[in-house]
Amino acid sequence: MNASHSRLTDWGLAHVSVEKHDTILDVGCGGGRTISKLARAASQGKVYGVDFSDESVAASKRTNARAIGLGRVEIVHGSVSQLPFSDDMFDLVTAVETHIWWPDLPGSMRGIFRVSKPGGQLAIIAKVYKGANTMVSRLAEKAAERTGMMLLSAEEHGQLLTSAGYVHVQVIEEHTKGWICAIGKKPNGGGTMPRWSPDGREGGVRACVSRQRLALAHLGSARPGPAPPCEIWPAAQGRL
Ligand SMILES: C[S@@+](CC[C@H](N)C(=O)[O-])C[C@H]1O[C@@H](n2cnc3c(N)ncnc32)[C@H](O)[C@@H]1O
Repeated sequence: MNASHSRLTDWGLAHVSVEKHDTILDVGCGGGRTISKLARAASQGKVYGVDFSDESVAASKRTNARAIGLGRVEIVHGSVSQLPFSDDMFDLVTAVETHIWWPDLPGSMRGIFRVSKPGGQLAIIAKVYKGANTMVSRLAEKAAERTGMMLLSAEEHGQLLTSAGYVHVQVIEEHTKGWICAIGKKPNGGGTMPRWSPDGREGGVRACVSRQRLALAHLGSARPGPAPPCEIWPAAQGRL
């Protein structure tokens, strides 16, 4: 997983700026390779990783043992649904090849918005998405119900970030590979954290195009239970 996601991660991270003093969170950190890359870039900052799988936490700790010893990296066990971090803590939050498994995407986005500093960036990166013209994305879409994967289109990615309160939202597609990177910034003044309601009567969600709103409301509530841990990822791919 570390090796296979490395090029995707490099491509996605090229779309955000990492400063040397940054405090960064990598959500769904898996084997910990993204954390290593981020810790090299934020050479005088601190990088946190969070993952709800014990195995991923252990793997991330092994990959980053030296930086953990130096106090530059910290790996925490936890879910994106209940991030165990203070408000306004991170200059950058990254999520590589993980949001497709989150059980409550709009709710998770609100949690990420909460822990982002005003002016902080978010980058969501994945190698499959709805509408991508690659074999793997088409197969993933077809098998989404069976695998539990939640695929959004490029447009829906943009709407997801905007609905969570992010500004300067951009969705970048690497068409030949079928990769996607959605980036946004928490407003400098902190902004308001929109509350999600399926009928769209609350907060920033009101601005949604209703077709997308319904799609996202459906996405946010349709999947019972936690997303599968990373270890089943290769197995899920095998089922495609
Ligand atoms: C396919 S792996 C990707 C790992 C890593 N980001 C990478 O690019 O190599 C997905 C990771 O997301 C984690 N994950 C999935 N759902 C999660 C959730 N709700 N909260 C926290 N972590 C989650 C899994 O445990 C797994 O480690």
